[in-house]
Amino acid sequence: MNEQVLYRKYRPKSFDEVVGQEHVVGAIKNAFKMGRVAHGFLFSGPRGIGKTSMARLIAKALNCEKNGKADVPCNMCALCRDFNEGRAVDVIEIDAASNNGIDEIRELRDGVRFVPVRGKYKTYIIDEVHQLSKQAFDALLKTLEEPPAHAVFVLATTVLEKVPATIVSRTQHYAFRRPSAMDIAERLITIAKKEGGTLKKDAAHLIALAAEGGLRDAESILGQIMAAEDKDITREAVEEILGLPRREAVKEMFSLIAKKDAPAALALIQTLAESGYDLSYFSKVLLQYFRSAFFLHTDPSLKPFISADLLPDELEAIEKHLLLFTSADLSRGITILFGHIQNFRKTPIPQLPLELAVIELMHGGEERVQEKK
Ligand SMILES: Nc1ncnc2c1ncn2[C@@H]1O[C@H](COP(=O)(O)OP(=O)(O)O)[C@@H](O)[C@H]1O
Ligand SMILES: [Mg+2]
Ligand SMILES: [Zn+2]
Repeated sequence: MNEQVLYRKYRPKSFDEVVGQEHVVGAIKNAFKMGRVAHGFLFSGPRGIGKTSMARLIAKALNCEKNGKADVPCNMCALCRDFNEGRAVDVIEIDAASNNGIDEIRELRDGVRFVPVRGKYKTYIIDEVHQLSKQAFDALLKTLEEPPAHAVFVLATTVLEKVPATIVSRTQHYAFRRPSAMDIAERLITIAKKEGGTLKKDAAHLIALAAEGGLRDAESILGQIMAAEDKDITREAVEEILGLPRREAVKEMFSLIAKKDAPAALALIQTLAESGYDLSYFSKVLLQYFRSAFFLHTDPSLKPFISADLLPDELEAIEKHLLLFTSADLSRGITILFGHIQNFRKTPIPQLPLELAVIELMHGGEERVQEKK
């Protein structure tokens, strides 16, 4: 099994499988139920969070033979199967990123008049639509203004600001969100199970955090791990394969900083550096700790905004050490870490940015207080 297969294999086959986009799914299912599906959609948001999947689901639901324009494509009829196997003839995908699209859009403008081959609707999916040339946009606009009854357009973009307002105003716009780590973890557990393995909850959560909210990336990491590991995947296995520092070590570092134990903290950095761990990732997680601690310290009701970025046991560790810091310590800590993290790309001594940050975290505050006196 290779990593690509997994995220192709598990492309959602029905609207309810689309994770973390409830606002989009709800509205579109409803439009199908009422028989009021728009002729133009615009999906915006980062890569790998379900835009193309949603576009293809719309195309499938429009053509499903069993249900007509159903909000639940049957996945059994000949047309649904064509879609699921990537053989559908009435869906035309154009990638505006591969060229500036004028030939494709001209072809689209000429071809759109012809009725669909197999089903009742033709769906045009234009990916990275913001990359079309001015000329291509003008041609597209004409078509969007007077689409034939059998044509539906789904435009997708990662850079909404670059889509001309004239195009936006002629479509129904949906902003896709990064699914939460929790949602991603759940989806990964389901997939691992379908693949005949098990994925521990914290392992799934860790993959979700490493993928930074991209579901496709998360699935491709899972594929990579399932190819290398036996069927039962633990958090340690994930850390090992991804070459991540044990997040346990970040927890330890946070506690050492709280207790101002500089020698132990520097010894820990040395061990990590010698084992070849990615100290930039380590520092990012440490920054996440400080951010979370600052939020919690300042206002405990902010907890929902941080719980997605940390593993549950990490949140506990932060709460345990919280009162060893002042709110000012924590906000200063964020500034210090943030400043030093920028230096990882250019440092000649790999561990130096982290060492400096840690020393400043433990000592800078006192100096400043003394200066004031
Ligand atoms: N919201 C989601 N729900 C379920 N699976 C998803 C979702 N987003 C991405 N995926 C997974 O990632 C793959 C690529 O997603 P895709 O829809 O092409 O993302 P985008 O078009 O936003 O870049 C899908 O085949 C699926 O396996
Ligand atoms: Mg896409
Ligand atoms: Zn069907």
